[in-house]
Amino acid sequence: MTSVSVRVPAKINLQLAVGPRRPDGYHDLVTVFHAVSLFDEVTVEPAGRDGVSVTGEGADRVPANGDNLALRAVAALRAAVRDRGGGPGRVHVSIAKRIPVAAGLAGGSADAAAALVACNELWESGLTQQRLLEIAATVGSDVAFALLGSTAVGRGRGEQLTPALAPATRYHWVLALADGQLSTPEVYAALDRIRGDQEAAPPVLDAALMSALRSGQARLVGSSLSNDLQQAAVSLFPPLRKTLTAGLELGALGALVSGSGPTCVFLAANAERALELAVSISGAGVCRSVARVSGPVPGATVVRVG
Ligand code: C5P
Repeated sequence: MTSVSVRVPAKINLQLAVGPRRPDGYHDLVTVFHAVSLFDEVTVEPAGRDGVSVTGEGADRVPANGDNLALRAVAALRAAVRDRGGGPGRVHVSIAKRIPVAAGLAGGSADAAAALVACNELWESGLTQQRLLEIAATVGSDVAFALLGSTAVGRGRGEQLTPALAPATRYHWVLALADGQLSTPEVYAALDRIRGDQEAAPPVLDAALMSALRSGQARLVGSSLSNDLQQAAVSLFPPLRKTLTAGLELGALGALVSGSGPTCVFLAANAERALELAVSISGAGVCRSVARVSGPVPGATVVRVG
């Protein structure tokens, strides 16, 4: 084998309930992850030393050194394989980005998950999905979900996953991509400031959202979307308020900030409505660009072996 390519999706959060800040600096979450059809492609090839190159959407803003999450994933997998007596070689990771960087869509986590799947294949390590999920959780809070894909409930930091059992409904979303970025730690810190001395309640899974997902009715899902980070994201990026209002006025069934933002997500009743909504949000001039996506889609998947 001389190369392995893996396709990996972006995620949105249909619910993001944030509990109190923990002693380790993370926040306890209950979240409903949903993988959507906006994909990065990650290729690994044997090389003299570990390295990474990035092309595509926002490539210049992705670290090309050891801070790169995909390279950290490679190192974590190598350590796990070495523990089992293997001796995998060095790799070059090429990331073709379509998922915007620092947008609340877990693009960096997606690339890390893809690198895990790709190296597991290239090195013929044969680690199980369960073991890859454990390694993923050490690399970042959202990496495990990018392996799993589809729709899943995340607990803990977001890394403890339970697949959501739901009918095979396809949801049609419009993403409003912002002209700017938000740093996830800064958004969590802004939430802590907003909450002040008030102790946050433990996060709880939204029964109305889960029931809406079981019904498969987009209208019900649209009215059950929620994100505890939204207020904090809007406080750091005030134009988002206008973007969210515009999408709802233009007929979205529901609207919210994706994860820590600044991407805004709008649900449409069907593919045709999503196209109309995308055109009108674009025309309203309330974001940098729009993307139409659908979900759920599978997690990181091998697409080519060379
Ligand atoms: O795990 P990851 O590196 O993706 O998290 C980035 C940052 O987001 C953390 O350093 C932390 O500040 C914040 N975070 C958090 N609670 C979570 C997940 C992330 O506070 N459950």
